[in-house]
Amino acid sequence: MRNLNQDTITQAVIAGLVDTPDARLKELMTSLVQHLHAFARDTRLTEAEWALGIDFLTAVGHQCSPTRQEFILLSDVLGLSMLTVAMNNDKPQGCTESTVFGPFHVPNAPRVPNGGDVAQGAAGQPCLVRGRVLSRDHTPLAGACVEVWQADAQGKYDVQYEDLAQPRARGVLQADVQGRFEFHTIVAEPYPIPTDGPVGDLLRATQRHPWRPAHLHFMVTAPGHQNLITHVFRDGDPYLDSDAVYGVRQSLVAPWVQQADGLCTMDFDFVLNANPS
Ligand code: BEZ
Ligand code: FE
Repeated sequence: MRNLNQDTITQAVIAGLVDTPDARLKELMTSLVQHLHAFARDTRLTEAEWALGIDFLTAVGHQCSPTRQEFILLSDVLGLSMLTVAMNNDKPQGCTESTVFGPFHVPNAPRVPNGGDVAQGAAGQPCLVRGRVLSRDHTPLAGACVEVWQADAQGKYDVQYEDLAQPRARGVLQADVQGRFEFHTIVAEPYPIPTDGPVGDLLRATQRHPWRPAHLHFMVTAPGHQNLITHVFRDGDPYLDSDAVYGVRQSLVAPWVQQADGLCTMDFDFVLNANPS
């Protein structure tokens, strides 16, 4: 394995993976080497450019903390998160589609009684969200678990505030025997993904905007059914066709309806796919 050159090095690296005991790891690494080398060849990558690339990836790592995951953000803006979601969540007609998880889910969100207040003081216009959790044949999924999280009117999730003692605009509800759930919250508004790190630099360098269309995040679970991670997007939002992380699906767009009494309402039913038997 001496005197490798630009024509022989790819096969040499791949040959070095031949004894990888885990077959899937071997497949992933072989393909990754092939594609990385092809990228370098296609673009005639210079040493200075690759040094810049390594500086960028180093900066992405340094930006990560317990409350900030810049690598997820990078995967999101490159469309890689949505591609893996799309490939792995191909569901039968009628089931609610999945979309990106995003970096702002927090485990152990507060439990909220059905009909209760999720906002917990978050700034925004009052909104009532209602819906049902159903199986594909529209049988109600009694007692299904509905977790919701969202940004406030300033476009920020609770975890983006340094001084917040309590969770806000997130909660876990249990649907009733008819699969129905409802909660009070605030109207979803569009917001920019964080741009104060290297992913923001990348967006600016490529003249891309950082905005996500207004949405609520949901994670819906019920026994015997596949977990659903999705959003509901607000109809009419100006960013529906240019989401910075490519997560919009038309079936997930719903109207937020302004009622005469000043309250806004949003109704959406979730249809879960059964586990394979
Ligand atoms: C979000 O919707 O919370 C989100 C998704 C991807 C990147 C940043 C934020
Ligand atoms: Fe979000």
